[in-house]
Amino acid sequence: MSSFFLTTAIDYVNSRPHLGTAYEKITADVIARYHRLKGDDTWFLMGNDEHSQNVFKRAQEQGKDPLAYCDEMEQVFREVWGRLDVSFNDFIRTTDRKRHFPAVQRMAQVCQDNGDIYEGTYEGFYCVGCEEFKPEKDLVDGLCPIHKTRPEWIKEKNWFFRLSKYQQPLLKFYEEHPSFIEPEVRRNEILRFVEGGLDDLSMSRAGQSWGIPLPFDPKSVVYVWFDALINYAAAVGYGWDDALFKKRWPANLHIVGKDITRFHCVIWPAMLMSAGLPLPGQVFGHGWVFFKGERMSKSLGNMVDPLDAAKRFGPDPLRLYLTKEVPYGGDGDFTWERFEEKYNADLANNLGNLVNRVAAMTERYRGGQLTAQSGGPLATVAAESARAYAHAMDRLALHEGVASAYRLISAANEFIAETQPWSLAKDPANAARLSHVLYDAAEAVRIAAVLLLPVMPSSAVEILRRLGETTAPADLRLDTASTWRASGERAILNAGALWPRLEDKGAPNVSENTTPATPTVPASAAATETTAPAAAVAPAAPAGIHATEAGIAPSDAAAPELISIDDFMKIQLKVAKILEAERVPKSKKLVQLKVDVGEVAPRTILAGIAESYEPEQLVGRTIVVVANLKPAKLMGIESNGMVLAASPEGGGAMLLNAEPAVPGTRVR
Ligand code: MSP
Repeated sequence: MSSFFLTTAIDYVNSRPHLGTAYEKITADVIARYHRLKGDDTWFLMGNDEHSQNVFKRAQEQGKDPLAYCDEMEQVFREVWGRLDVSFNDFIRTTDRKRHFPAVQRMAQVCQDNGDIYEGTYEGFYCVGCEEFKPEKDLVDGLCPIHKTRPEWIKEKNWFFRLSKYQQPLLKFYEEHPSFIEPEVRRNEILRFVEGGLDDLSMSRAGQSWGIPLPFDPKSVVYVWFDALINYAAAVGYGWDDALFKKRWPANLHIVGKDITRFHCVIWPAMLMSAGLPLPGQVFGHGWVFFKGERMSKSLGNMVDPLDAAKRFGPDPLRLYLTKEVPYGGDGDFTWERFEEKYNADLANNLGNLVNRVAAMTERYRGGQLTAQSGGPLATVAAESARAYAHAMDRLALHEGVASAYRLISAANEFIAETQPWSLAKDPANAARLSHVLYDAAEAVRIAAVLLLPVMPSSAVEILRRLGETTAPADLRLDTASTWRASGERAILNAGALWPRLEDKGAPNVSENTTPATPTVPASAAATETTAPAAAVAPAAPAGIHATEAGIAPSDAAAPELISIDDFMKIQLKVAKILEAERVPKSKKLVQLKVDVGEVAPRTILAGIAESYEPEQLVGRTIVVVANLKPAKLMGIESNGMVLAASPEGGGAMLLNAEPAVPGTRVR
């Protein structure tokens, strides 16, 4: 098993994450998940960059202690990344005194001991937005070209890092490691820049308290970039756990934006050379995501909150849009119109419709059961798509990887249109052919879902579940899972629209030419605000504590008393994610859940589902709960809500699955 250590830039915490910063984390997450799918021992690091002057100022503006402010912002960032399903393994902060401080102080000391740090006076411009010293030639009309603000003129005694000494070693390294800087356009930029000669770098700031004191001059703090870059080594033990550091370092891949590639391709490797440490495998400088063609910025007031985008349809459509529509390495654009257009085209009409049609036809014509068949024409397309996908993903051409999966999806849609299973079904003489066609389509969709696992984790898992995949998602491996399966039985689940079309206002999708599908989960779970109540959908019998443990039988559906929509709307059904689950001691049925309902703090809910689920199967599921139920005490524990589950006669409770909707989304 090979190991793979990747990182993203660590974010300034003077404002909330926006769609641009989220783009970086989501695409890095796609890469991390791809490596996990390949079976690599993957370590994905993210974090926050806190010693910036703007962070300090923002805390002061809010009358907060800077560290307390950063503590709060950590929660904000973690929450956003959690809701976007970003699966980092570690999150480091530059105010971390156990890991980051010793690492920064060790590296500064080692560079000093090696004669690469000397005292001097810095005089020149400094842009606080970039946290960068700016040579006059880089200014446009006296302004920073990125922030359009006038940099400060500063003159102070500083410590300098001998960056100039590393010009030749860096050029030699780039030559010997041609894939160190990607994509090529950035490599060329950096080569030209370094060939032009390097100035030494001021690596300390005088007269500031917000930062890490230099070990050899405690009155000065380390310059924020020199400090921040070290996070990558600090997180894996540098300066505090040599054995761990030896195990994990060097990083295989740094994912950063094009505006900060220079810091990562010039200053960081020079620092590592000075400290005698191995260099990372690659720095990938991705492009920017613009909003309606403009750079997102606070001053323009056009920052898109990624949670607004994720609330629209759940995190996966956003993840798909950003990965598929922006060529990785280049720039891209986001508009709400385009996002909705792509949602309809790629998800509602294409993949979603395909899953529904296959499942509905299999249910109708084969009672939901298929026997595996050796490959027809779709097997060839599947093999070719899987090959092209891996080739693209290995080169970080993420958009091409997704396009390969979509080629298979389109081929499966065309295959259904051509073979017309509904016509085959009319003549019993075509029975074998019909079984083959249905299996081929189902198998092609299964393989496409495997390829999409890194991009749309929850949706792909849901598709695999409906297609009868029995391996746990975490155990799926790309090579075996993306290969055509020619033997075995498959149980296919027809579970309603995954992504309702927008103008349908949440109405379930018609799943094949002749039979409309009956969803078991209200289709509106994924569609949120724009969605009208899915009143036509039969309600599932609750199996929460009140229906089971408390002994109240679910009402008989034979002659239901009709209620008005207003009555129904009194019940607040919400999407919730299970964070923790444990059996209630001395109870056969009760499980104590901690769930995220999109509120500030998680809630405790007791559910009578212990006979159907082991606690560990529950953690991570996205379910539906009644959020406005009066609290009730059972076995001495207060329950604040009730989970919804289908309770078939004589069978165990089956929790309603609300993936990929985000916690807090209203279900109606
Ligand atoms: N704190 C530094 C990075 C230090 S890494 C040792 C920083 N922080 S940032 O918050 O300004 O940006 C974080 C990352 O988000 C950077 O890689 C930056 O390029 C990226 N992006 C910021 N705006 C972006 C877009 N509009 N689009 C894509 N990425 C963008 O820089």
